[in-house]
Amino acid sequence: MAKVEYEDRVAVITGASSGIGEQMAVDLARRGVTLCLIARRKDRLEQTLQRVQEHSPKSSMIVGSVGDRETCERLIAEALSAHGGIDFLINNAGIMRHRDVAELTAEDAESVMQINFLGTVYPTLAVLPHMIDRGEGWIINMGSGTSHMALPLEAIYAASKHAIRGWSEGLWLDLKARGISVSVIHPGPIDTEMVEGIAATGEPSRLTDGSTKLYPPQVVSDALFRVIEGRQFEVSAPPRYGFVYWLHGVMPGALRRGIFWDAQRAARSDRALRGASGGSS
Ligand SMILES: NC(=O)c1ccc[n+]([C@@H]2O[C@H](COP(=O)([O-])OP(=O)(O)OC[C@H]3O[C@@H](n4cnc5c(N)ncnc54)[C@H](OP(=O)(O)O)[C@@H]3O)[C@@H](O)[C@H]2O)c1
Repeated sequence: MAKVEYEDRVAVITGASSGIGEQMAVDLARRGVTLCLIARRKDRLEQTLQRVQEHSPKSSMIVGSVGDRETCERLIAEALSAHGGIDFLINNAGIMRHRDVAELTAEDAESVMQINFLGTVYPTLAVLPHMIDRGEGWIINMGSGTSHMALPLEAIYAASKHAIRGWSEGLWLDLKARGISVSVIHPGPIDTEMVEGIAATGEPSRLTDGSTKLYPPQVVSDALFRVIEGRQFEVSAPPRYGFVYWLHGVMPGALRRGIFWDAQRAARSDRALRGASGGSS
Protein backbone atom coordinates (compact mmCIF):
# COMPACT_ATOMS: atom_id res chain seq x y z
CA MET A 1 0.00 0.00 0.00
CA ALA A 2 1.22 3.50 -0.85
CA LYS A 3 1.83 5.75 2.13
CA VAL A 4 -0.75 8.53 2.26
CA GLU A 5 0.03 11.71 4.20
CA TYR A 6 -3.21 12.75 5.91
CA GLU A 7 -1.95 15.79 7.81
CA ASP A 8 -3.38 19.03 6.33
CA ARG A 9 -5.53 17.22 3.78
CA VAL A 10 -9.17 18.25 3.43
CA ALA A 11 -12.16 15.90 3.27
CA VAL A 12 -15.82 16.61 2.57
CA ILE A 13 -18.14 14.00 4.09
CA THR A 14 -21.85 13.89 3.42
CA GLY A 15 -24.16 12.34 6.01
CA ALA A 16 -21.78 12.98 8.91
CA SER A 17 -24.39 13.50 11.64
CA SER A 18 -24.57 9.82 12.66
CA GLY A 19 -23.48 6.25 12.03
CA ILE A 20 -20.83 5.48 9.44
CA GLY A 21 -20.31 9.10 8.34
CA GLU A 22 -19.69 10.25 11.90
CA GLN A 23 -17.18 7.44 12.53
CA MET A 24 -15.27 8.17 9.31
CA ALA A 25 -15.17 11.90 10.11
CA VAL A 26 -13.71 11.31 13.59
CA ASP A 27 -11.15 8.78 12.28
CA LEU A 28 -10.00 11.15 9.51
CA ALA A 29 -9.75 14.02 12.01
CA ARG A 30 -7.59 11.83 14.29
CA ARG A 31 -5.15 11.50 11.36
CA GLY A 32 -4.95 15.29 10.99
CA VAL A 33 -7.45 15.76 8.13
CA THR A 34 -9.56 18.93 8.10
CA LEU A 35 -13.23 18.05 7.63
CA CYS A 36 -16.14 19.81 6.01
CA LEU A 37 -19.31 18.00 7.12
CA ILE A 38 -22.84 18.09 5.80
CA ALA A 39 -26.19 16.64 6.96
CA ARG A 40 -29.70 17.94 7.69
CA ARG A 41 -29.91 17.60 11.52
CA LYS A 42 -28.07 20.66 12.85
CA ASP A 43 -27.88 19.48 16.50
CA ARG A 44 -26.46 16.08 15.56
CA LEU A 45 -24.01 17.56 13.05
CA GLU A 46 -22.79 20.00 15.70
CA GLN A 47 -22.09 17.03 17.99
CA THR A 48 -19.99 15.36 15.27
CA LEU A 49 -18.20 18.64 14.56
CA GLN A 50 -17.36 19.00 18.24
CA ARG A 51 -15.80 15.50 18.28
CA VAL A 52 -13.93 16.24 15.05
CA GLN A 53 -12.61 19.61 16.22
CA GLU A 54 -10.94 17.98 19.25
CA HIS A 55 -8.40 16.68 16.69
CA SER A 56 -8.88 19.02 13.75
CA PRO A 57 -9.91 22.50 14.95
CA LYS A 58 -10.25 24.13 11.51
CA SER A 59 -13.04 21.71 10.49
CA SER A 60 -16.43 23.13 9.56
CA MET A 61 -20.01 22.08 8.77
CA ILE A 62 -22.93 23.01 6.53
CA VAL A 63 -26.53 22.10 7.31
CA GLY A 64 -28.52 21.05 4.25
CA SER A 65 -29.67 18.26 2.00
CA VAL A 66 -27.48 16.53 -0.59
CA GLY A 67 -30.67 16.00 -2.57
CA ASP A 68 -30.54 19.69 -3.42
CA ARG A 69 -28.13 20.56 -6.25
CA GLU A 70 -27.53 24.16 -5.18
CA THR A 71 -26.77 23.12 -1.61
CA CYS A 72 -24.17 20.65 -2.91
CA GLU A 73 -22.58 23.32 -5.11
CA ARG A 74 -22.47 25.67 -2.10
CA LEU A 75 -20.97 22.91 0.06
CA ILE A 76 -18.08 22.39 -2.37
CA ALA A 77 -17.60 26.14 -3.00
CA GLU A 78 -17.53 26.89 0.76
CA ALA A 79 -15.18 23.98 1.47
CA LEU A 80 -12.83 25.25 -1.25
CA SER A 81 -12.87 28.83 -0.04
CA ALA A 82 -12.60 27.91 3.68
CA HIS A 83 -9.91 25.25 3.33
CA GLY A 84 -8.21 26.06 0.01
CA GLY A 85 -8.71 22.64 -1.59
CA ILE A 86 -10.50 19.30 -1.36
CA ASP A 87 -8.54 16.04 -1.33
CA PHE A 88 -11.30 13.57 -0.40
CA LEU A 89 -14.98 13.67 -1.29
CA ILE A 90 -16.84 10.97 0.63
CA ASN A 91 -20.41 10.58 -0.57
CA ASN A 92 -21.93 8.72 2.35
CA ALA A 93 -25.39 10.27 2.95
CA GLY A 94 -28.25 7.89 2.38
CA ILE A 95 -31.78 6.95 3.34
CA MET A 96 -33.67 3.67 3.35
CA ARG A 97 -37.27 2.87 2.39
CA HIS A 98 -37.92 -0.61 3.76
CA ARG A 99 -41.29 -1.14 2.11
CA ASP A 100 -43.07 -3.66 -0.11
CA VAL A 101 -43.13 -2.38 -3.72
CA ALA A 102 -46.91 -2.80 -3.64
CA GLU A 103 -46.95 0.00 -1.06
CA LEU A 104 -44.13 2.11 -2.44
CA THR A 105 -45.17 5.57 -3.62
CA ALA A 106 -43.67 7.63 -6.44
CA GLU A 107 -42.57 10.11 -3.74
CA ASP A 108 -40.68 7.31 -1.94
CA ALA A 109 -38.92 6.42 -5.18
CA GLU A 110 -38.08 10.04 -5.98
CA SER A 111 -36.68 10.81 -2.53
CA VAL A 112 -34.48 7.69 -2.43
CA MET A 113 -33.03 8.33 -5.88
CA GLN A 114 -32.69 12.07 -5.19
CA ILE A 115 -30.78 11.63 -1.92
CA ASN A 116 -28.88 8.38 -2.45
CA PHE A 117 -28.02 8.66 -6.13
CA LEU A 118 -28.23 12.33 -7.16
CA GLY A 119 -26.92 13.25 -3.71
CA THR A 120 -23.78 11.34 -4.75
CA VAL A 121 -23.65 12.83 -8.26
CA TYR A 122 -24.16 16.54 -7.38
CA PRO A 123 -21.16 16.98 -5.02
CA THR A 124 -18.99 14.97 -7.42
CA LEU A 125 -19.80 17.15 -10.42
CA ALA A 126 -19.17 20.24 -8.31
CA VAL A 127 -15.73 19.09 -7.09
CA LEU A 128 -14.47 17.57 -10.34
CA PRO A 129 -13.14 20.74 -12.04
CA HIS A 130 -11.00 21.38 -8.93
CA MET A 131 -9.66 17.82 -8.73
CA ILE A 132 -9.01 17.66 -12.49
CA ASP A 133 -7.08 20.97 -12.30
CA ARG A 134 -4.93 19.56 -9.49
CA GLY A 135 -4.53 16.17 -11.14
CA GLU A 136 -5.25 14.52 -7.80
CA GLY A 137 -8.11 13.56 -5.51
CA TRP A 138 -10.16 10.74 -4.08
CA ILE A 139 -13.89 10.24 -4.63
CA ILE A 140 -15.33 7.58 -2.36
CA ASN A 141 -18.95 6.52 -2.68
CA MET A 142 -21.04 4.50 -0.23
CA GLY A 143 -22.59 1.47 -1.89
CA SER A 144 -24.11 -1.50 -0.09
CA GLY A 145 -24.58 -5.24 -0.46
CA THR A 146 -27.65 -4.12 -2.42
CA SER A 147 -25.33 -2.55 -5.02
CA HIS A 148 -24.91 -6.17 -6.16
CA MET A 149 -28.17 -7.88 -5.28
CA ALA A 150 -31.61 -6.70 -4.23
CA LEU A 151 -33.17 -7.73 -0.93
CA PRO A 152 -36.87 -8.11 -0.13
CA LEU A 153 -38.69 -4.83 0.63
CA GLU A 154 -35.68 -2.83 -0.53
CA ALA A 155 -36.24 -2.54 -4.30
CA ILE A 156 -35.86 1.22 -4.62
CA TYR A 157 -32.95 1.35 -2.15
CA ALA A 158 -31.22 -1.44 -4.12
CA ALA A 159 -31.86 0.46 -7.37
CA SER A 160 -30.19 3.57 -5.92
CA LYS A 161 -27.19 1.52 -4.75
CA HIS A 162 -26.88 -0.31 -8.10
CA ALA A 163 -26.86 3.17 -9.69
CA ILE A 164 -24.07 4.28 -7.35
CA ARG A 165 -21.98 1.27 -8.31
CA GLY A 166 -22.46 1.90 -12.05
CA TRP A 167 -21.74 5.60 -11.62
CA SER A 168 -18.58 4.79 -9.62
CA GLU A 169 -17.32 2.41 -12.31
CA GLY A 170 -17.94 5.05 -14.99
CA LEU A 171 -16.12 7.69 -12.91
CA TRP A 172 -13.17 5.34 -12.44
CA LEU A 173 -12.90 4.82 -16.20
CA ASP A 174 -13.04 8.53 -17.01
CA LEU A 175 -10.84 9.78 -14.16
CA LYS A 176 -8.07 7.23 -13.69
CA ALA A 177 -5.82 8.78 -16.34
CA ARG A 178 -6.33 12.17 -14.67
CA GLY A 179 -4.83 11.04 -11.35
CA ILE A 180 -8.14 10.87 -9.49
CA SER A 181 -8.96 7.73 -7.50
CA VAL A 182 -12.53 6.50 -7.36
CA SER A 183 -13.77 3.89 -4.91
CA VAL A 184 -16.99 2.35 -3.74
CA ILE A 185 -17.41 0.74 -0.32
CA HIS A 186 -20.09 -1.89 0.19
CA PRO A 187 -21.02 -2.17 3.87
CA GLY A 188 -22.71 -5.31 5.12
CA PRO A 189 -25.16 -5.06 8.02
CA ILE A 190 -23.99 -2.17 10.21
CA ASP A 191 -25.47 -1.18 13.55
CA THR A 192 -26.68 2.38 12.87
CA GLU A 193 -29.84 4.47 12.97
CA MET A 194 -30.67 3.21 9.48
CA VAL A 195 -31.20 -0.28 10.92
CA GLU A 196 -33.16 1.21 13.84
CA GLY A 197 -35.40 2.82 11.21
CA ILE A 198 -36.04 -0.58 9.61
CA ALA A 199 -36.96 -2.03 13.00
CA ALA A 200 -39.39 0.86 13.53
CA THR A 201 -41.35 -0.07 10.37
CA GLY A 202 -42.38 -3.37 12.03
CA GLU A 203 -41.80 -5.11 8.67
CA PRO A 204 -39.86 -8.39 8.75
CA SER A 205 -36.15 -8.01 8.07
CA ARG A 206 -33.11 -10.24 8.51
CA LEU A 207 -31.34 -7.10 9.78
CA THR A 208 -33.66 -6.69 12.75
CA ASP A 209 -34.94 -10.18 13.68
CA GLY A 210 -31.76 -11.13 15.50
CA SER A 211 -30.64 -13.62 12.83
CA THR A 212 -27.96 -11.35 11.34
CA LYS A 213 -24.82 -10.16 13.08
CA LEU A 214 -24.62 -6.37 12.97
CA TYR A 215 -21.15 -4.83 12.76
CA PRO A 216 -20.05 -1.50 14.26
CA PRO A 217 -19.53 1.52 11.93
CA GLN A 218 -15.81 1.15 12.67
CA VAL A 219 -15.55 -1.72 10.13
CA VAL A 220 -16.65 0.67 7.38
CA SER A 221 -14.30 3.38 8.54
CA ASP A 222 -11.45 0.82 8.46
CA ALA A 223 -12.48 0.00 4.87
CA LEU A 224 -12.22 3.69 4.01
CA PHE A 225 -8.53 3.68 4.89
CA ARG A 226 -8.02 0.45 2.95
CA VAL A 227 -9.42 1.99 -0.23
CA ILE A 228 -7.50 5.24 0.18
CA GLU A 229 -4.15 3.65 0.96
CA GLY A 230 -4.55 0.78 -1.48
CA ARG A 231 -6.20 2.96 -4.17
CA GLN A 232 -8.69 0.11 -4.44
CA PHE A 233 -11.82 0.48 -6.52
CA GLU A 234 -14.20 -1.68 -4.55
CA VAL A 235 -14.21 -3.19 -1.07
CA SER A 236 -16.70 -4.87 1.22
CA ALA A 237 -16.98 -4.11 4.92
CA PRO A 238 -16.44 -6.45 6.63
CA PRO A 239 -14.32 -8.09 3.89
CA ARG A 240 -15.98 -11.54 4.30
CA TYR A 241 -19.16 -10.15 2.69
CA GLY A 242 -17.24 -9.90 -0.57
CA PHE A 243 -17.72 -13.66 -0.93
CA VAL A 244 -21.52 -13.30 -1.03
CA TYR A 245 -21.29 -10.60 -3.72
CA TRP A 246 -18.87 -12.75 -5.72
CA LEU A 247 -21.26 -15.70 -5.42
CA HIS A 248 -24.11 -13.53 -6.67
CA GLY A 249 -22.01 -12.62 -9.72
CA VAL A 250 -21.34 -16.30 -10.44
CA MET A 251 -24.82 -17.74 -9.78
CA PRO A 252 -27.31 -14.85 -9.53
CA GLY A 253 -30.42 -16.99 -10.12
CA ALA A 254 -29.62 -19.42 -7.32
CA LEU A 255 -28.92 -16.61 -4.89
CA ARG A 256 -32.08 -14.70 -5.87
CA ARG A 257 -34.23 -17.81 -5.33
CA GLY A 258 -32.46 -18.54 -2.03
CA ILE A 259 -33.16 -14.98 -0.81
CA PHE A 260 -36.81 -15.34 -1.92
CA TRP A 261 -37.40 -18.62 -0.05
CA ASP A 262 -35.59 -17.33 3.01
CA ALA A 263 -37.85 -14.23 3.03
CA GLN A 264 -40.95 -16.42 2.63
CA ARG A 265 -39.88 -18.51 5.63
CA ALA A 266 -39.12 -15.38 7.69
CA ALA A 267 -42.53 -13.86 6.81
CA ARG A 268 -44.30 -17.11 7.83
CA SER A 269 -42.55 -17.21 11.20
CA ASP A 270 -43.24 -13.48 11.67
CA ARG A 271 -47.00 -14.07 11.02
CA ALA A 272 -46.96 -17.04 13.40
CA LEU A 273 -45.30 -14.93 16.12
CA ARG A 274 -47.82 -12.10 15.65
CA GLY A 275 -50.66 -14.64 15.77
CA ALA A 276 -49.28 -16.13 19.00
CA SER A 277 -49.06 -12.66 20.58
CA GLY A 278 -52.68 -11.85 19.72
CA GLY A 279 -51.87 -9.84 16.57
CA SER A 280 -49.82 -7.10 18.23
CA SER A 281 -46.46 -6.35 16.65
N1 LIG B 1 -26.32 0.53 8.18
C1 LIG B 1 -26.20 -0.38 7.24
O1 LIG B 1 -26.44 -1.59 7.46
C2 LIG B 1 -25.73 0.02 5.86
C3 LIG B 1 -25.45 -1.02 4.95
C4 LIG B 1 -25.05 -0.69 3.67
C5 LIG B 1 -24.90 0.65 3.31
N2 LIG B 1 -25.17 1.65 4.21
C6 LIG B 1 -25.00 3.03 3.76
O2 LIG B 1 -24.16 3.75 4.65
C7 LIG B 1 -24.47 5.14 4.55
C8 LIG B 1 -24.59 5.73 5.95
O3 LIG B 1 -25.70 5.15 6.60
P1 LIG B 1 -25.69 4.73 8.15
O4 LIG B 1 -25.87 3.27 8.21
O5 LIG B 1 -24.54 5.36 8.82
O6 LIG B 1 -27.08 5.35 8.63
P2 LIG B 1 -27.43 6.68 9.42
O7 LIG B 1 -26.83 6.67 10.77
O8 LIG B 1 -28.91 6.82 9.28
O9 LIG B 1 -26.69 7.80 8.58
C9 LIG B 1 -27.20 8.37 7.42
C10 LIG B 1 -26.58 9.73 7.27
O10 LIG B 1 -27.05 10.31 6.04
C11 LIG B 1 -27.53 11.61 6.33
N3 LIG B 1 -28.54 12.02 5.38
C12 LIG B 1 -29.70 11.39 5.07
N4 LIG B 1 -30.37 12.11 4.16
C13 LIG B 1 -29.61 13.21 3.90
C14 LIG B 1 -29.76 14.32 3.05
N5 LIG B 1 -30.84 14.49 2.29
N6 LIG B 1 -28.78 15.26 3.02
C15 LIG B 1 -27.69 15.15 3.80
N7 LIG B 1 -27.49 14.10 4.63
C16 LIG B 1 -28.44 13.16 4.67
C17 LIG B 1 -28.07 11.51 7.77
O11 LIG B 1 -28.10 12.79 8.37
P3 LIG B 1 -29.39 13.73 8.54
O12 LIG B 1 -30.56 12.83 8.82
O13 LIG B 1 -28.99 14.59 9.70
O14 LIG B 1 -29.51 14.49 7.26
C18 LIG B 1 -27.00 10.66 8.40
O15 LIG B 1 -25.90 11.47 8.77
C19 LIG B 1 -25.75 5.25 3.71
O16 LIG B 1 -25.41 5.59 2.39
C20 LIG B 1 -26.29 3.83 3.74
O17 LIG B 1 -27.07 3.55 2.61
C21 LIG B 1 -25.58 1.36 5.49
